[in-house]
Amino acid sequence: MAPCEEEEVPRSGPALIVGATGYIGRFVAEACLDSGRRTFILVRPGNACPARAASVDALLRKGALVVEGRVDGKDGRRSVETALRAHGIQVVISVMGGANILDQLGLIKAIQAAGTVKRFLPSEFGHDVDRARPVGAGVGFYEEKRRVRRAAEAAAVPYTYICCNSIAGWPYFDNMHPSEVRPPLDRFQIYGDGTVRAFFVAGTDIGKFTVKAAYDARSINKVVHFRPACNLLSTNEMACLWESKIGRTLPRVTLSEEHLLAMAAEDIIPESIVASLTHDIFINGCQTNFGIDGSRDVEVSTLYPDIPFRTIDECFDDYAHGLHLEEEAEESKKSNAPMVERLAVYPTCA
Ligand SMILES: NC(=O)c1ccc[n+]([C@@H]2O[C@H](COP(=O)([O-])OP(=O)(O)OC[C@H]3O[C@@H](n4cnc5c(N)ncnc54)[C@H](OP(=O)(O)O)[C@@H]3O)[C@@H](O)[C@H]2O)c1
Repeated sequence: MAPCEEEEVPRSGPALIVGATGYIGRFVAEACLDSGRRTFILVRPGNACPARAASVDALLRKGALVVEGRVDGKDGRRSVETALRAHGIQVVISVMGGANILDQLGLIKAIQAAGTVKRFLPSEFGHDVDRARPVGAGVGFYEEKRRVRRAAEAAAVPYTYICCNSIAGWPYFDNMHPSEVRPPLDRFQIYGDGTVRAFFVAGTDIGKFTVKAAYDARSINKVVHFRPACNLLSTNEMACLWESKIGRTLPRVTLSEEHLLAMAAEDIIPESIVASLTHDIFINGCQTNFGIDGSRDVEVSTLYPDIPFRTIDECFDDYAHGLHLEEEAEESKKSNAPMVERLAVYPTCA
């Protein structure tokens, strides 16, 4: 597929977001709506979970148009194909969760059969899976994402792979949705010597730049890397930044490479996958240990040099805002408990 052919570049055509009710998906769907484009969201029928229903309602209020369906199974695939054609969908952004990555094979078949789609963004939203070499549970997860890449390429639908690196927040090693939990108030768990850096990107920026790239001729058949220079930090630096927000220092506990590897080797999904990726980021340096090769890769800041990213400093201000530190310290002393209980957030209804 020749890149940059004028007729292949969707300018303002409608988009379908698959996985809009998910953690990353809601940022993408909101950004698509904010961009003023007709935004369809695929909603699985019969999913009555209140959190999901609330997400759908919020998107409806912003103007989203619901397509009921699912991408797995023959019937699901056919109904998606019909919807793509009926609404003239030009851009499909998949934000399906880790447990459903291979369901996208059906989505690709539907896209191919419909013939309206000019750009497909599979559910990536992390690292460059063709380059990264995680150890343990992350391997199978990346193999699935690689299979989806190969299927998209074989289908000859123009694609864009979004490698947005880490979402902004404290990088908890045992939580898939770390930005939903504020940084610690009891102690920091530092990976290895704490000096390996990663890129942290606010969820709203993941959404905004994903939608920009989806409609941009320069990202056809490219891997788009999010490397905002202002948000490249190590866990040591993140810890100091958070301390400056809360006005006190916290103890540091080292989580060794061996510990992360032991967790990654267990078969507890998704925790072992998160530990495996945490190891790859903060021990192997997988977000920074390669250069960006111009023919296949593009860095998002070079595409949009005038659009700033939210800084991690601003994101930490949000967490600190409204934190009643003195009251919490008093409570904690009384109960002899850690000041903040870390919650594992898995907003699924299954
Ligand atoms: N960079 C980071 O820090 C980071 C963090 C987390 C995730 N990620 C990546 O972001 C992507 C999305 O993950 P997530 O955690 O946001 O996912 P999630 O919260 O689990 O949401 C998954 C979404 O996909 C929908 N879905 C699943 N199977 C489907 C099917 N067969 N047909 C139609 N819809 C289906 C779900 O619908 P229901 O509402 O019906 O369940 C839900 O809306 C993944 O590739 C993940 O690896 C990146």
